[in-house]
Amino acid sequence: MPERILVAVAWPYASGPRHLGHVAGFGVPSDVFARYQRLKGNYVLMVSGTDEHGTPITIAADKEGLTPKELTDRYNTIIGDDLYNLGLSYDLFTRTTTRNHYRVTQDLFKTLYDKGYVTRKEMLGAFSAATGRTLPDRYIEGTCPICGYHEARGDQCDNCGNQLDPIDLINPRSKIDGSEPVFKETEHFFLDLPAFAEQLHSWISQQEHWRQNVRTFSLNLLADLKPRAITRDLDWGVPIPLPEYADRDDKKIYVWFDAVIGYLSASVEWAHNNGTPDAWREWWQNPDARHYYFMGKDNIVFHSVIWPSMLLGYGNGGVIGGGGASEALQLPYNVVSSEFLTMEGRKFSSSRGVVIYVNDFLSRYDPDPLRYFLMIAGPENQDTDFTWAEFVRRNNDELVATWGNLVNRTLTNVYRNFGGVPQPGDLHQGDLLLIEDVEHGFATVGELLDVVRFKAALTETMRLAAQVNAYLSEQEPWKVIKNDRERAATIWYVALRCVDNLKTMLTPFLPFTCQRLHSYLGYDGYIAGPLEFREYVEEDGVAHRGLTGDYASWIGRWQPTPLPVGQQLHEPQPLFKKLDERVVAEELARMESNSSAH
Ligand code: MF3
Ligand code: ZN
Repeated sequence: MPERILVAVAWPYASGPRHLGHVAGFGVPSDVFARYQRLKGNYVLMVSGTDEHGTPITIAADKEGLTPKELTDRYNTIIGDDLYNLGLSYDLFTRTTTRNHYRVTQDLFKTLYDKGYVTRKEMLGAFSAATGRTLPDRYIEGTCPICGYHEARGDQCDNCGNQLDPIDLINPRSKIDGSEPVFKETEHFFLDLPAFAEQLHSWISQQEHWRQNVRTFSLNLLADLKPRAITRDLDWGVPIPLPEYADRDDKKIYVWFDAVIGYLSASVEWAHNNGTPDAWREWWQNPDARHYYFMGKDNIVFHSVIWPSMLLGYGNGGVIGGGGASEALQLPYNVVSSEFLTMEGRKFSSSRGVVIYVNDFLSRYDPDPLRYFLMIAGPENQDTDFTWAEFVRRNNDELVATWGNLVNRTLTNVYRNFGGVPQPGDLHQGDLLLIEDVEHGFATVGELLDVVRFKAALTETMRLAAQVNAYLSEQEPWKVIKNDRERAATIWYVALRCVDNLKTMLTPFLPFTCQRLHSYLGYDGYIAGPLEFREYVEEDGVAHRGLTGDYASWIGRWQPTPLPVGQQLHEPQPLFKKLDERVVAEELARMESNSSAH
């Protein structure tokens, strides 16, 4: 029985272009996982969109002299293009400024409010002394009252991991202009997190399959849960769905409260767009569905504590969940968080020019080598560093030398000498063992992907490719063919079968080149593509663009393929380019000139 898998990918802020650190954390890992699950025949729903509310947006808009709407329109397009160019196969990549998202967000807010999980309280809010506007938590810096760290943010301390309120900070100052914030009384709505502490504790304790750091970190957060403000003094955001706030433009729902709801609202939108408005329930109200969330580690608390609390509190009530045989909404099955990627030993920083934007990278290099690098050397379990030298080395010594070389020599020799898949003679013991070893990869690599151990899965696949290379070097079919054409045909047949199977195993990681290889091998149809943009018009007549694709028509299956003898190959071209060592110096110089320009 196919399983229902929700691949829930963190929503990038539409406040600027996204850099390699972002796509290393949420982007490529989630896509590898989704593609693998689809190849396995599971029903995958992969959703996300741009995160368009909150002060990250208003501040960026001010800087660029645009309205928040103009800014998010611009970056929704740029980010969508980047994700498309990276081949991230969303079923729907949408935005948080749709009518649909507002409706679902307001339903959750209202339901939690009616059930008493959201309460009102007067509190001290931080305002900028200069502008009188609200100062977002994360733009206030000060000393952590718990551990004494000097650069704690108003929302959390990156040193001890505790959640904070700006008012708790010792010596608070605005990160925007350095001034001391003014605190004023203002009414806010609070999510009663302590009401869920016990349920969360027993639930998280049972999640033994989570990465250890995520589980420990989340359990620690439970020790000190406080009600959390879910509104902000701000004019940009989802309106508070209570009559007395209908006409007020100074208070909106907090961006994080609406953003996490995006996973649900995007699923609802996807179902609607496809003309099957209830289809989202198969993932959200089906106790057998499994939900995997992908994000960078600074997002853990929102996915392992806050969003689950909202889901628990919502239960099966409300407009969206109601009607028909509704079940409670599913909790996350796994919260897959990445560590951080640094850049040549430094923290990514757009403001300091220490950054490589995805679109800039892809203007000079292909997407698959980047995907390869991020999966084999990315921040899966620890902070890791992107260096150009290492990128060039991995590209040349691994991707080109191992896999590219295997594909290239096999396809060119077979194409030149036989034109199609040759008829093998008797298979020797060694031939059979190699085919078997590679086919066994579907089990070993698959098990690793199932438990989101991407680096190990890719390493194992590359080891198998190296094994096939070793077989060819030992058998030397290019020499054998001079006096034993049948034996040479057999060796090439064996290599070709292995290449065909490795192609399937590598498709989640390297979808663009595997699609090309698929057609060089003489197959029709899509094993891995294409993605497409569609326009969706809502009832108010406003259109937005969504990234989607017809993935149900993919013909690949996560299992060995019996490559048909006689199948004609198409003339092969190399899958990868060797990079000149000079690239390193050039790129470092480019980065230096960018950072000195800032
Ligand atoms: N926009 C946030 C960030 O870039 C991530 C939001 S994830 C979601 O860090 F949960 F809100 F969807
Ligand atoms: Zn601290």
